[in-house]
Amino acid sequence: MNLIVANDYADLSRVAAERIAAAVARKPDAAIVLATGNTPMGAYAELARMQRAGAFDATHIRPFQLDAYLGIPFDDERALYGWLERAFLRPLGIARERVVMLPDGAPDPEAACRAYDAAVDAAGGFDLAVLGLGPNGHLGFNEPPSPADAPTRRVILTEASLNSNGPYWGGRDRVPREAITCGMRHLLAARETLLLVSGAHKREILRATLYGPVTSDVPASLLRLAGKVTVIADAAACGRDDPTWRC
Ligand code: PGA
Repeated sequence: MNLIVANDYADLSRVAAERIAAAVARKPDAAIVLATGNTPMGAYAELARMQRAGAFDATHIRPFQLDAYLGIPFDDERALYGWLERAFLRPLGIARERVVMLPDGAPDPEAACRAYDAAVDAAGGFDLAVLGLGPNGHLGFNEPPSPADAPTRRVILTEASLNSNGPYWGGRDRVPREAITCGMRHLLAARETLLLVSGAHKREILRATLYGPVTSDVPASLLRLAGKVTVIADAAACGRDDPTWRC
């Protein structure tokens, strides 16, 4: 696992966008699983800027949705697909037909999960995973404990995730209680992973991810068993001012 310490959020976003663009330059039809959440938003905006400048071309990528709340209508403002569409797909001109989705309102969530895993297998696995770090160490909605072989599945959100997602939607009570998430099995098998971490509030969980026990109780720590993983963290998340910190 490599660690890049960015000066600030803008620097993190630029470095992450350059890494994504480099992966796509190597393989234009890369299968990429993409997080929503606040952290990758700067990188996605930077990619759109690069595409306008001719320095990035998203035409052939194969995007995969990372996670979805369950039981809300497709056009609900909380639908995570909608967030991905606003932040990534539309600015880059990627049509919905190209995206492998995790449908929020699926009548049969288990079947939707099986179809998603089959689509990842058919794509030959992920070429790139762009992930954020949950305050409880979750990746996507792989809530602790999530074993390394966990498939794509239906999950009940933990208190930590309800609390941290509350601000996205105007309060904790508006956060759906269940979700479906791409499983750890496919995430850990990605040929390249970028884990983006920003802000002082992520300091402790970043430390646990990098230096604590490798355990399903901190799903992100399992990335230390995976292949090519780069953590891009800003100085606030690293706590450079903390003398006990080893960044
Ligand atoms: P954030 O969310 O990027 O908004 O911090 C990360 C997560 O909870 O997975």
